[in-house]
Amino acid sequence: MHHLKDRGYTHLVSSEITPRHVYLQRRRLLQGAAGGVALAGLGALRPAQAQVARPGQQAALPAVRSAVAAAMATDKLTPYKDITTYNNFYEFGTDKADPAKYAGSLRTRPWTVAIEGEVKKPGTYDIETLLKLSPMEERIYRLRCVEGWSMVVPWVGYSLAELIRKVEPTGNAKFVQFITLADRAQMPGLSQAVLDWPYVEGLRMDEALHPLTLLAFGLYGEVMPKQNGAPLRLVVPWKYGFKSGKSLVKIRFVEKQPKTSWEAAIPEEYGFYSNVNPKVDHPRWSQATERRLGEDGLFAKKRPTLMFNGYEAQVGQLYAGMDLKKFY
Ligand code: MTE
Repeated sequence: MHHLKDRGYTHLVSSEITPRHVYLQRRRLLQGAAGGVALAGLGALRPAQAQVARPGQQAALPAVRSAVAAAMATDKLTPYKDITTYNNFYEFGTDKADPAKYAGSLRTRPWTVAIEGEVKKPGTYDIETLLKLSPMEERIYRLRCVEGWSMVVPWVGYSLAELIRKVEPTGNAKFVQFITLADRAQMPGLSQAVLDWPYVEGLRMDEALHPLTLLAFGLYGEVMPKQNGAPLRLVVPWKYGFKSGKSLVKIRFVEKQPKTSWEAAIPEEYGFYSNVNPKVDHPRWSQATERRLGEDGLFAKKRPTLMFNGYEAQVGQLYAGMDLKKFY
């Protein structure tokens, strides 16, 4: 195992996630260039294209650099098949297999995202504009679902902060609300009243601006599969997976803490913050351990869940002094 350490957390180097011939080719390229790889800030920013092997199921979405944040040496990428066949996307049904079966009816073009509320530059942004707003990065993040499973995904996207900076929030913007698509013609699950549609989520402004918060357009070097939230979704790696809204159509900057769909549905079980926390149990089950999709079999010993899903060094200070049992 070869990994690099800085600031107390571990970066997986791309030799572990890239086919060997691609890695060697890239290394030759890098050696020919100015020099070594600079490690800065949140991850290793590589000037060359850094891609995991493409499964070839969707169009390619190349990242221009790789910022591999906090993927631990023990983390193996979850196979593409598991990431794309075991999903929560209730707009297409509540069974884990439903999104892969039914999301084919989702139309991802044309697609726009409305930016509203407390911003100096509100407006409707086209997906093609959003794709070009900032260089695409490959980021390997763990995603821990509130139900007790987790996965390790090579996402492609850029920090949500890049978009936020462009639209210039006003001083009144204290929270950000994320509204996802709700169209009965495309989404068969909407006929069931499981949630109050559209699916809405929210973050505090500092959480939304945190560089780890990713606006993701793809995974495994390709365009986002529909069942995973095409054409763009949020990924907030230190929070339970449900905070990562799929198929976003609206981002609204607001002054007051917005209600989220899960809070509205079951307030005693789902709070606004929903940070991954092994010490705070869900009222109906423990959150101390998790099962890794495609890796830990049903009867295998579960792995311990890490505080803030392992991203405590990067995000812990956002919650300094807060009682995380109260603000769950
Ligand atoms: N976004 C929308 N629009 N609808 C959903 O039902 N489910 C959430 C989240 N985003 C959901 C959503 C939940 S509970 C989880 S765990 C993650 O998406 C799952 O993402 P994945 O299917 O890519 O693993």
